Amino acid sequence: MPVVQIQQNQQRVNDFLSVALSQITINEPQLHQAMNHGLLLGGKRIRPFLVYAVGEMFGVEKSQLDNAAGAIESIHAYSLIHDDLPAMDDDALRRGQPTCHITFDEATAILAGDSLQTFAFELIGQAPQNAEQRLEMMQCLSKASGYQGMCGGQALDLAATNKQVSLAQLEQIHRLKTGALICAAVELGAIAANASRTHRELLNTFAQNIGLAFQVHDDILDVIGDTETLGKPQGSDEAANKSTYPALLGLESAQDKAKQLIEQAISSLQALPFDSTLLQAFARYIIARNQ
Ligand code: IPE
Ligand code: IPE
Ligand code: MG
Ligand code: MG
Ligand code: MG
Repeated sequence: MPVVQIQQNQQRVNDFLSVALSQITINEPQLHQAMNHGLLLGGKRIRPFLVYAVGEMFGVEKSQLDNAAGAIESIHAYSLIHDDLPAMDDDALRRGQPTCHITFDEATAILAGDSLQTFAFELIGQAPQNAEQRLEMMQCLSKASGYQGMCGGQALDLAATNKQVSLAQLEQIHRLKTGALICAAVELGAIAANASRTHRELLNTFAQNIGLAFQVHDDILDVIGDTETLGKPQGSDEAANKSTYPALLGLESAQDKAKQLIEQAISSLQALPFDSTLLQAFARYIIARNQ
């Protein structure tokens, strides 16, 4: 993966979010600090990367993509704050820092997550696209975040804890809890570009495959990664008896599965009449990363 491209987009979305968050009227400083903590302290920024990379593949300027990129990251940040709460995964470390509820308290972490969720839709409302595109972006992001997407997946993930689930059930959990937002990132770039239905379908196949692969690899890193590099506690899934790909299939089969998904993702890109070199490199990075 061209590291420079990741870093440039990371810097860009960080600057955008930091300015956007600093412009909010502060009624309660601790809540604002908790939002900053969840949104601005680290993170790979892979969802914003996808918004930029897909939009730019179609010739859209980065400046036209900042709001969508910032919005998806804000939803993601909220999902991580809530995912780490004692009622969910009960983790104390995230992005190399104490988690939001440890740094502040549970109530503040819940509210910071809630605020970041609505902040995302504020950003979409202010996006430079026309009203029809903004409406489509809102629908895309809300559907991917809510009960038909990330929240639904999180609920199934919790229900599958301490239980044996089938491979089909686990795949559904992963597609919802993680895949849905990754698909939305790709779709937001395509909406900003007014991409054709055919192109969107090919991109959706790409996104579905990398989305599932991303969570399979996340499960793998929980087994083979180290806490310092991950910035979150290695072994947390096993300790909590979570349903994961390595737990269900074994490590090697899980790795094979992730590889197959990435090959499928790349072949759907190759059917697009655009230069998808960057997205192809990104797909490979998903299963090569160590954090
Ligand atoms: C972690 O997401 C949670 C999952 C959906 C697997 P990331 O691996 O993108 O986390 P950050 O944003 O880089 O910290
Ligand atoms: C997280 O899955 C998915 C969402 C936050 C929606 P995990 O629980 O595996 O994520 P990590 O490993 O804590 O980052
Ligand atoms: Mg979780
Ligand atoms: Mg977790
Ligand atoms: Mg995980």
